[in-house]
Amino acid sequence: MGKVVGRSATYEAGPNIALVKYWGVRDPTLVLPYNSSLSVTLGRFRTRTTVSFEPVLVRDEFTLNGAPIEGTPRDDVVRFLDRVRNLSHRSERARVRSSNNFPTASGLASSASGFAALAGAASAAAGLRPTPRALSQLARLGSGSASRSVFGGFVEWRAGSRADGADCYAAPIASADHWPELLDRVAMVRDAPVKTTRSALAMQSTVASSRGYAQRLADVPGRIARLERAIRDRDAETLFATTIEECDSFRSVCETTDPPLDYLTATSRSILAAVRAANDEAGRPVAAYTHDAGAHVHVFTLDGALSKLRKRLDRIAGVERWLTVRPGAGARRVGGPT
Ligand code: DP6
Repeated sequence: MGKVVGRSATYEAGPNIALVKYWGVRDPTLVLPYNSSLSVTLGRFRTRTTVSFEPVLVRDEFTLNGAPIEGTPRDDVVRFLDRVRNLSHRSERARVRSSNNFPTASGLASSASGFAALAGAASAAAGLRPTPRALSQLARLGSGSASRSVFGGFVEWRAGSRADGADCYAAPIASADHWPELLDRVAMVRDAPVKTTRSALAMQSTVASSRGYAQRLADVPGRIARLERAIRDRDAETLFATTIEECDSFRSVCETTDPPLDYLTATSRSILAAVRAANDEAGRPVAAYTHDAGAHVHVFTLDGALSKLRKRLDRIAGVERWLTVRPGAGARRVGGPT
């Protein structure tokens, strides 16, 4: 009673799945990537985060799904709050309460939705009013892929070339309802290894050691241009073919990293094979697979092709759960100020 209550704000954000992967940073401090990337922000999954700056606190407190978090994940949150405190000339410690409606660190990009929601909630609670572009730049400092989760639908993260990162930001390329027939069938693979190393570190060993990395960097701009056109024109065959080509390029530079990075299980590989078989049988791309630095696999297809494709996918052993996900909204404030 009578105590000074700090400002508080709540944000929600969804994870995203990259069709063109971010993999390699030219500046680890500012999280400036070597290549631009392109993703779909996913509906259905979300992180909800409330931040309140409270003068009575002596240290930042972070809970995830109700449990207090210590160690590296908390350190990452504290470092992020420090940036927001610097920007807003504040010094109060914060209470951060976060929850995911999907498994954390499971390869479903919880760091993307987590830092997009944290960036929105922390900056609003601190009284900052960043533009969406500036919010994507702030979120990027927590996790590169979080810059894209600030926006809904189809999103490009432009690498830029400036040393200060001013031209490095995410921007929407098409809204979540742009392509209603397009869906992402997500396989939650059983016994997927829990992610222990952040991608931001793993990708740097690829940069340092994969002999295919330079060629990959040369190929990515063409793929982004093709995908942008395919999304604009709702050209599914080009979208599927380019998405597979890019995922194979990503996996190949991981496999040629020293020591090799292998994120897939036998089940994941069976899903990739099933999508290839479906495309071979149809004589044209009717679906695409993609995966991030984890074992779960995203299968993109159109509503009209799903039932035939499911006959192949549903008989693959080792999938805990299949979920159909559509493009979803970007980071947004929920509830009023408290
Ligand atoms: C393979 O930006 O999520 O998902 O926060 O360190 O985990 P960490 O890095 P993050 O790396 C994403 C890598 C990727 C590709 C992508 O999402 O573009």
